[in-house]
Amino acid sequence: MNLDQLLAEAVLDELDKSAGAASGVDYALHPARWATERAGITPWSKQVEIMESVRDNPRTAVQSCHSTGKTYISASVVSWWIDSHPPGDAFVLTTAPTGDQVKALLWREINRLHGNAGLPGRMNMSQWYLPTENGGEELVAFGRKPSEYSEAAFQGFHAKYILVVKDEASGVPTPLWTAAESVASNRHSRILVIGSPDVPEGDFYDACQPDSVYNVIKIGYHDTPAFTGEQVPEEVLDVLISPEWVESRRQAWGEESALFQAKVLGQFPTGDHDPWRIIPETAAARCRWVEPEDGDHVAGLDVGAGGDRTVLVERRGNAVDRKFSFQSDDPMQSVDDLVDVIREWGVTAVNVDTTGVGWGIGGALRRALRSDRIDVNAIHFAQKSRKKECLNKRAELWWHGRELTRSGGWSLANLSDDDIAELTSPRYEIHKASRKIKVEDKGEVVKRVRRSPDVADAVLLAFHQGLPLGPSSDGRSAFGGANMLHGGGSGAGSTLMPALGSMGGSRGGMPSLGR
Ligand SMILES: Nc1ncnc2c1ncn2[C@@H]1O[C@H](COP(=O)(O)OP(=O)(O)O)[C@@H](O)[C@H]1O
Ligand SMILES: [Mg+2]
Repeated sequence: MNLDQLLAEAVLDELDKSAGAASGVDYALHPARWATERAGITPWSKQVEIMESVRDNPRTAVQSCHSTGKTYISASVVSWWIDSHPPGDAFVLTTAPTGDQVKALLWREINRLHGNAGLPGRMNMSQWYLPTENGGEELVAFGRKPSEYSEAAFQGFHAKYILVVKDEASGVPTPLWTAAESVASNRHSRILVIGSPDVPEGDFYDACQPDSVYNVIKIGYHDTPAFTGEQVPEEVLDVLISPEWVESRRQAWGEESALFQAKVLGQFPTGDHDPWRIIPETAAARCRWVEPEDGDHVAGLDVGAGGDRTVLVERRGNAVDRKFSFQSDDPMQSVDDLVDVIREWGVTAVNVDTTGVGWGIGGALRRALRSDRIDVNAIHFAQKSRKKECLNKRAELWWHGRELTRSGGWSLANLSDDDIAELTSPRYEIHKASRKIKVEDKGEVVKRVRRSPDVADAVLLAFHQGLPLGPSSDGRSAFGGANMLHGGGSGAGSTLMPALGSMGGSRGGMPSLGR
């Protein structure tokens, strides 16, 4: 063969590859073979079932527990779809509840697969471009968070093979479901909705019902390789849900909790069993899909006594951001560590519960941070509340958290499942003598759920006086029906707990710290 022939062969090879036909297999019809032969990945049986369902059914809904490879297989489906159809004929749109879930989760997996498998074209954090015959390139797949979609963005996609993927589909708002239906309307189009069954209502819940137009695949922990004995490579077994995790969650969350039902059993929660939870579980689940929005930048600090956890939580605008926690019985070391992190975060204020040990640490922090112009605000949980319906400050802070949760007024997207469990465990009662709202004592919470809600307290401190109640800015229907595509919506604050005023006003009401 001469050089020209070799080059021609190489070009043909590349063309074959990008048409998914390197080995004469039409990979569009054989997703499992595409996965192993072309992408070099090893999906487990339910993941194969998902790929084949997308091949065979116009609509696929996957309702699954935690860590079964939902996002991973969604990324694989996206890659398979683009790679196995002729270039130019296929198009993919993906979404998830927040920008981070689109970029840091789904598209991170797509990027990784693209690199590892040497798939054609070029990719950035949420877009995939393929070369065109005339030497240019065209967009063949992209991911957007819900607030970036508009009806216009959905018009004009007229590829023959359209695929729409919604990861964490419980949190994808209705307008996107409607838009997806209109864009994926031809007979070759496909929709894959996948996620954990977090809330027992809404579009994803409907899609997962037996009478829906979706082919429904359900995955509970007992269906996964660690429990069925399905043979999978060690490195796959290592990343999937494990018996140890299931047991530890049973202990930590309780079988009745919404978290256990959704994240472990893979079932939609059967409702809030405990009406006296201050922060209801399903409302909290929804707040994990609220898009973070910038605003004032403060921290909340819950100081642990004698070897208990000390937790510092960062708040930016409406959102919980970073978390720093440690255990130490050396107060001076604790102050030094906290000062370092507070400076690094660059918050303008820190709200500290000054009950018990917090008093000394709060005072030391105030002295250390004075030159940085960082305010250290003392909040004494046992102190009287300015809200006449609350027994004390602690009740006031928790009740504010309840109202923010019920209105979708804060973003809990950065909290872990365990943090959410903490936030939703304390109960309230109407205090007999005063008829005011009383929050369960920390000691009682610990006795009942065997875990101290330190992260939750720090979160509530970070939101103290910080965020007036109001309409949710992304206005999902569950939060009052505002138009999510255009944001905003009118609305008054809650009647039960009116807006608490803004940060940075008079500090006249604050008790002073020891100096
Ligand atoms: N078949 C697989 N082979 C290799 N790694 C996998 C596989 N399925 C999932 N993973 C990895 O397991 C981890 C959890 O998967 P992920 O898709 O994030 O789970 P889920 O979305 O269900 O919580 C990720 O790091 C992912 O890359
Ligand atoms: Mg996932």
